[in-house]
Amino acid sequence: MKAIVYGAYGGPDVLHLAERARPELQPKGARVRVQAAAVTTADWRLRAAAFPGVLALVGRAMFGWRRPRQPVLGSAFAGEVTEAGEGSPWSPGQQVLGFVPAGAHAEELVIGPDACVVARPAGMSAEAAAALPFGGLAALVFLRDVAQLKPGQRVLITGGSGEVGAMAVQIATALGARATAMASAGNLALLRELGTETALDYRSADLAALGQSFDVVLDTFGALSVRQARALLRPGGVFVPLNFGLREIAAALWPWARRRVKIHVNADRAEDLEALVKLWAEGQLHPLVGEVFPMAEARAAHARVEGRHKRGAVVLRMDG
Ligand SMILES: NC(=O)c1ccc[n+]([C@@H]2O[C@H](COP(=O)([O-])OP(=O)(O)OC[C@H]3O[C@@H](n4cnc5c(N)ncnc54)[C@H](OP(=O)(O)O)[C@@H]3O)[C@@H](O)[C@H]2O)c1
Repeated sequence: MKAIVYGAYGGPDVLHLAERARPELQPKGARVRVQAAAVTTADWRLRAAAFPGVLALVGRAMFGWRRPRQPVLGSAFAGEVTEAGEGSPWSPGQQVLGFVPAGAHAEELVIGPDACVVARPAGMSAEAAAALPFGGLAALVFLRDVAQLKPGQRVLITGGSGEVGAMAVQIATALGARATAMASAGNLALLRELGTETALDYRSADLAALGQSFDVVLDTFGALSVRQARALLRPGGVFVPLNFGLREIAAALWPWARRRVKIHVNADRAEDLEALVKLWAEGQLHPLVGEVFPMAEARAAHARVEGRHKRGAVVLRMDG
């Protein structure tokens, strides 16, 4: 099978389209022909060893000190089950979407019986399905569980047109909250289409002059310091930075603060993916597919993601 492989940390040119052995089917597992897979900020960080802040050391310890241990990137995917082991919950012919630890930037992948994989509903395109898990799972878990966002509350979302941010605006609205979101001027109309109440240009907005305080600040981009975020929160409010270093960790460990900082690293659960598919079926969530690249143009897709101005998700098409 063909796969996008890399053997050293670096820029997009460390990626190569290569022939690889097919992965082995696990007991009770299934083999999936990948139709489309997202290239996410996590794929960029793993390719370039660009782990934020204090995670630089942890990242290399986990993913390979001098070179990557796992040669094929890719987590969020859509595909078709082609083979299923005895006792597998899947059967050949089923359309699925999911989130795996690695290996989705290939023509085939294998999944275990407990993988974060769900059935892809009729009417959801492969590109949209691949664009759903990364941003959707992060936005859902960070807003619903970590921030415990409630109906009527106000939330500020940075990076509102990115893969996590575009999902966060829609999920905040679906949870009954009032979203203020930030992006550059060219994306403000998009933010409004996604459901944001107030759209702000991060290059010109004076947050201090807004005269508004928030219950939750979700910083998807890494645009705000703890001090800046706290100044925007009402007493009892919560700052949730998706990228964090020592300052954020120290602030999160201080339990007596009137404006809490909460940090979290997402675990990927099938029940959360089901909840996202349900929101899609109800018309409350539309995965935003910014650009689609053929598999052979994986380097260009990575360069786009690394630029950090993508709209929604960048998707690779594995089947031409
Ligand atoms: N902790 C976890 O478990 C977890 C899980 C998932 C993701 N993450 C992290 O979340 C982050 C978000 O990733 P993503 O893929 O959604 O998007 P991204 O590519 O990091 O961000 C894109 C968004 O940021 C905006 N932006 C670009 N430059 C900016 C600047 N200088 N100041 C403010 N905003 C700016 C863009 O707006 P314009 O294009 O309009 O400029 C766009 O809305 C990543 O760093 C990822 O590592 C963490």
